[in-house]
Amino acid sequence: MAEKQAATGEEPAAAGAAEGSGANSGRMSVLFVGDIVGGIGRRTLLESLPLLRERFAPTFVIANGENMAGGLGITPKLADELISAGIDAITLGNHTYRRREIYPYLDAEARILRPANFLRSQPGHGVCIVERDGVRLGVVSLSGNVHLRAGRSAFTEIEPALAQVAEAEHIIVDMHAEATSEKVAMGWHLDGRVTAVVGTHTHVPTADARVLPGGTAYITDVGMTGPRGGVIGVKREQAIEALLTQMPVRFETSDIDPWLMAVLIRCSRPRRADSIEQVMMARPSVPAPEG
Ligand SMILES: [Fe+2]
Ligand SMILES: [Fe+2]
Repeated sequence: MAEKQAATGEEPAAAGAAEGSGANSGRMSVLFVGDIVGGIGRRTLLESLPLLRERFAPTFVIANGENMAGGLGITPKLADELISAGIDAITLGNHTYRRREIYPYLDAEARILRPANFLRSQPGHGVCIVERDGVRLGVVSLSGNVHLRAGRSAFTEIEPALAQVAEAEHIIVDMHAEATSEKVAMGWHLDGRVTAVVGTHTHVPTADARVLPGGTAYITDVGMTGPRGGVIGVKREQAIEALLTQMPVRFETSDIDPWLMAVLIRCSRPRRADSIEQVMMARPSVPAPEG
């Protein structure tokens, strides 16, 4: 049912890592779930979570929720549902502001993040610190600047964002970007300074998960939690019609072949990853389609 790929790093230098406050301060694991697309993606995640918790016992679960509300954006009800299910933090992206009702929620709820390099005047915030088992995990949301609208540079705004989570033993950065080059560059830019840089937004998982030489776990794209039978979440006949006719087409979320796509990052000391492993599984209650 599950497919996995593991990538383990060389022994990296620990210089510059945050000092831990407890005996287990560096030991933890985090499951990061790729963009949850529509109700089908939400149900896939909620059904899969008990199995994933049993199999991997992750300390933290983080999820990108930018496509939850019918494929575009997120609502307070949907965010509450994730938090009630034990999701520690929700990251977003270019679809953050599709639903107006989320605006006050973005300011009020610490655990939901819009990209830190959006304009300061836009609702919400881009970093948070969550804590479990005596370990603090800083979470940072960033948006790429190539083919995406973000008011400030991800590469300059990551510095104040990291300063805001400096006290955390671990830091994970969601680099929500279109261009693979921007994500690869951010991985190298932060190698040795954060625990993980995970890419989101393209909804297609990449085969480059690894621990970089400085100890930062990296993947260009985690993929999506949603229907593999569509075109990055959209009903395939609609996506194909739009491409064929070059005319506007109303897109709906596909419900064919839902899968969960995530990465599991394991750590035994502050700010460094031991391994990053792709976790991809079909929705438990839905058998894979024939052909
Ligand atoms: Fe997305
Ligand atoms: Fe996106």
